[in-house]
This record gives sequence, C-alpha cells and structure tokens, in this order.
Amino acid sequence: MYSQLIPALSRRFFLKSSAAIFVGSVASGYLLRGANAVEYKEFRLRAGVNPVRLVPEPNDMTNAWCFNGQIPGPEIRVQQGDRIRVIVDNALDEETTVHWHGMRVPNAMDGVSHLTQTPIAPGNTFTYEFDAVDAGTFWYHPHQRSFEQVGRGLYGPLIVEEKKPIRVDRDITWVLDDWRLAADGQISDDFGNLHDMSHNGRVGNTVTINGQVLEKFQVRRGERIRLRLINAANARIFGIDFGEHEPVIVAIDGQPVAPHKPKNDLLVLGPAMRVDVVIDMVGDINQQYTLTDSFYRELKYRLVDLVYTNTPLRDRIPDWDMQLPANPLSEPDLGNAERHDVTFSGGMMGGMVMQEMGGSAGHELMGAMGSMMGMMHSGKIWFINGIAAEGPIMEPMLTLSHGRSHVIMMTNATAWHHPIHFHGHSFRVLSRNGTPTRFKEWQDTVLMGPKERVEIAFVADNPGDWMFHCHILEHQAAGMMGVIRVTEPGERT
Ligand code: C2O
Ligand code: CU
Repeated sequence: MYSQLIPALSRRFFLKSSAAIFVGSVASGYLLRGANAVEYKEFRLRAGVNPVRLVPEPNDMTNAWCFNGQIPGPEIRVQQGDRIRVIVDNALDEETTVHWHGMRVPNAMDGVSHLTQTPIAPGNTFTYEFDAVDAGTFWYHPHQRSFEQVGRGLYGPLIVEEKKPIRVDRDITWVLDDWRLAADGQISDDFGNLHDMSHNGRVGNTVTINGQVLEKFQVRRGERIRLRLINAANARIFGIDFGEHEPVIVAIDGQPVAPHKPKNDLLVLGPAMRVDVVIDMVGDINQQYTLTDSFYRELKYRLVDLVYTNTPLRDRIPDWDMQLPANPLSEPDLGNAERHDVTFSGGMMGGMVMQEMGGSAGHELMGAMGSMMGMMHSGKIWFINGIAAEGPIMEPMLTLSHGRSHVIMMTNATAWHHPIHFHGHSFRVLSRNGTPTRFKEWQDTVLMGPKERVEIAFVADNPGDWMFHCHILEHQAAGMMGVIRVTEPGERT
C-alpha cells in the first residue's frame, strides 16, 4: 500500500519491505503530497496514546505513547539535499515537541520546548521544515519531559540516504529500546523517581528491536547487510557482541568514519547514539548465531538470533567498497581554536550525592552529605560547571563566536557513564584521557566513562541557543543540561 506513496523507488521499496518481513515494522501512515513533492518531502506525525504489541501473546498489548500508533514511529526516509516538511499533531494530554536528533537544522526547527519554540499544546499542530544537509542515520523524539515521553515510546528513525550509497544487499534499521514493564505488560509508572535520577537512569527489563521482542532475524549466507543501529533507550547502554560475525563500523551518529572493527569486538552504543555497521553473513545455511548484549556484565542477555535460510546468496564475501562519502562539515582549525572547559559532577557516589562546590572555576568536589536530601528533593542532582539546570530557559554556559573553531575539554567527575549530546552541530572526538582517538570520529553524542576526560572540536557554524546535555534522560531532567550560544554571523562575543 505505501509503495504508492513513494515515487518510483523500487529498490528502496524492496529493501524496506524485506526488512518488514523479518522485523515486523512497516513505515506507514505518513503522506507524501504530490503537489509539494518537488519542493518538500512531506510527512505527518501524530503523537498519541495507542495499544501496541511489544511483548508476544498471550501478554496484553501495552499502552504506549507513540507516533502514528506504532513503535517506533514511521521511518522518515529521504535523500541528502531533500527539503523536509513534517507536520506534527499533538493528540497527547500534555505539551510536546519533536527534536530531530543529530540533524543540523536551523535553530527554530530544533524542537526544544521553550528554548527554540513554544511547545505544541494538546490538540495543536506545528510544522517543521528543514534540509537534509547530512546523509546518515538520525532519529526524532520529543524534547519536552523527554524522560517520560521518550520512555513511553515517542521516537522514530530518520534516514537520509547518500546520493551514492555504498553497495549492500539489504539496508536495515534497528531501533533499540528497553522498557520497564510490570507483570501485566504495562509500562511501569515510576518515571523520574529519585533512584533512577541519581544513579544510572531508567534501565528497563524488556529490550525491543523496532518495537518488538525479536527472537529471530533471517539472513542468507553470503549476504551483505548495512545495519543502522539506533539507541532510543532512556538510559540503557548497549554493548553488542556479534559472536562469529564481524561487523565493520562505517558511520557513527550518521557521520561516515574510516571502516573499522569495534574495539574489543563490542559495539557500544550509549543512549541516542547511532552506529551503521556492514556485516557479511559468513555463517552456514540452516544454522543460527546469537547476538548478545553484554554491556552490563551481570545483566548479559541474548539480544536476537541470526537465522540462516537454506538458500545461500553467494559463496564468497563481496569486495565492495565500504567507505561512505563525507558530509559537508566544516573542519575545525585546531591551531586557532578557542578552548573551553566543561566539568560534569553530581550523582550518587558511595551513598552520597557528590556536589560540586565553588562554581565553574575551582572544580572542587565535595561529598555534601548535609544537603543531600535537599538536593534530592529539589531534583538537582547533576551539575555542569557547578550548575544544575531547572529548565531549558537559562543563561548560556558558553557563548561561542560564529564561524570560529572551538575545542571543549570535558571532564566527567562522576562515577557514572554519560552520553553527552550537543544540538545543531557535529563535533570531532579528538582524545580520551589525553590519548588521541584513532579516527577523530564525528559524533553528536559522545559516551563518557566514569572519570573520563574527552576532548571535542567543531566549528560553531550554526547560530542560536543550543542544548548541551546528558542523554540519559533522567540525568537531563535532574539538572544535567546547559545551553551553548553560537552568536549570529558578525556579532561579537
Ligand atoms: Cu536526542 Cu537534546 O536530544
Ligand atoms: Cu548522564
């Protein structure tokens, strides 16, 4: 049915429908209006409450909050250079927005409630328009009470195809999420509780791939698959072990990277991160191979089985090129960059909330036992340069001059992991704990380990007030966010 909505792209249809057979998620329910098709690719998203089948029968359906009645929301798929228009209807009982995570959009289209737009009231509509500047794997989600709205299922994939994609047999998207389900199959209501906020966030008990507990994924011997992984979980970090298979990373957060194997054979994705891998199906016909998620050692579990059909596709590994064409990002000039320091602190450590004392300068850490209860009750548990955010309207923590190169040295002074996300830009990850990274990866979300120091660099080329926050959504809600201002062209800081 939806093939009629997509203009003459039989190959794309073939890829999408074959994905659907195995994965069970069909992008449907959005419209492409003929009249505007040349100028804009138009889509319609409706945020509402719907029963969905997350867990198999005989369990009940789960009442989720979702886009167009499905989890994940429909895959928005366009080509690099396309203009996109998305009309968002809010059928929830509360305000919402949509943020296009990783897309370098104009500030007013960034979907951050109160900071870049008035939130969409229940029953209202907002139209987003922006260009697909970069090709790659992106996603969308509300930026209003995200810890609950995303946690209840409001998110979807946004794929921007390269004009000349690398050659593969199938192009598959897996949106990963985890849920905290009660015995009746319903989403546990304990959003934003103090324990989740002050520890590692809301880690659930049920992991889904494209909105389903997926048992098997069918493949053919000799097949080459491009697998686009998107971590849409509030807090869970995935560490996927592909066992006998050897994934090759070709893009991180939508941005191409020199093709390489994951470190220690573990593909790690912090919340909001995306990784595109190319996998050659080197197993034997009629066999099955288990992918495990072993990020949290005690919580290791089987993610899914790759099940080989009895019909091989080819008998040798293809030698097709895996290098994706670069996106039009400005290269930071490290010799002439402005340098900034950012320190993250807070959270529980040895039974106390670690509070940063003395503001942005001293970075003196003290366990402030006395004020612990106070901080917990005020919901201020995490700090950036000594400040815990109370909402998205705030004074910028940094003001960056437009067009200049900037290096930020980030210090994680906490005992926890944090995926740090910056809006409106991609940045190069230059070093970790003083050691240069191998690939100077372009990312929009970088996972910092406990006590880790990470150095990032970018050109501030997108003017406006941009969110800079931890993407563990409970940490964000408990203070771990700030605003970075990029001045208008010509404006002095
Ligand atoms: Cu994925 Cu500030 O968001
Ligand atoms: Cu965090």
